[in-house]
Amino acid sequence: MTFQLAKQEATAKAELYAGLQSQLRSLLDGERDFIANAANLSALLYHSLPDLNWAGFYLYKGGELVLGPFQGRPACVRIAMGKGVCGTAAAERQTILVANVHEFPGHIACDSASNSEIVVPLIKHERLLGVLDLDSPLFARFDDQDAEGLNELARIFVDSIRLESDL
Ligand code: SME
Repeated sequence: MTFQLAKQEATAKAELYAGLQSQLRSLLDGERDFIANAANLSALLYHSLPDLNWAGFYLYKGGELVLGPFQGRPACVRIAMGKGVCGTAAAERQTILVANVHEFPGHIACDSASNSEIVVPLIKHERLLGVLDLDSPLFARFDDQDAEGLNELARIFVDSIRLESDL
């Protein structure tokens, strides 16, 4: 790829995420329910980002991750902390980009179409709430710009919701 083409793609991706951030702010405006806002964010991502086969949430409950709102094929329900890409991102509280899921030790294959994945941890007041998980049938679908854009969307989501402890 030429330098010029790479630059155009980077600009287009930055614009895509800027647009998604303002759409998400409007979509969540005035609503503080976790499940409702998570459901709308997964639908927004699944229908706006190209080349995804799964977009959704795993919620941290009782010391493990439990399937939450998502778009895509039915998925595994429970993931132990430290297991798979989701459990690793949750345990380390770090965004994890996986260019080839078949090379990730312990990757949990929920949909055989998935070849790359990104998982963003959701943290509010230092408390782990769960993770946002996106899968793609393309290898190396996600890059640092996606990580940055998705972290900002996750921050908007986390800021929007009310936890029982906030009431
Ligand atoms: N691949 C994930 C499991 C969740 S599905 O991709 C929806 C993992 O390894 O944690």
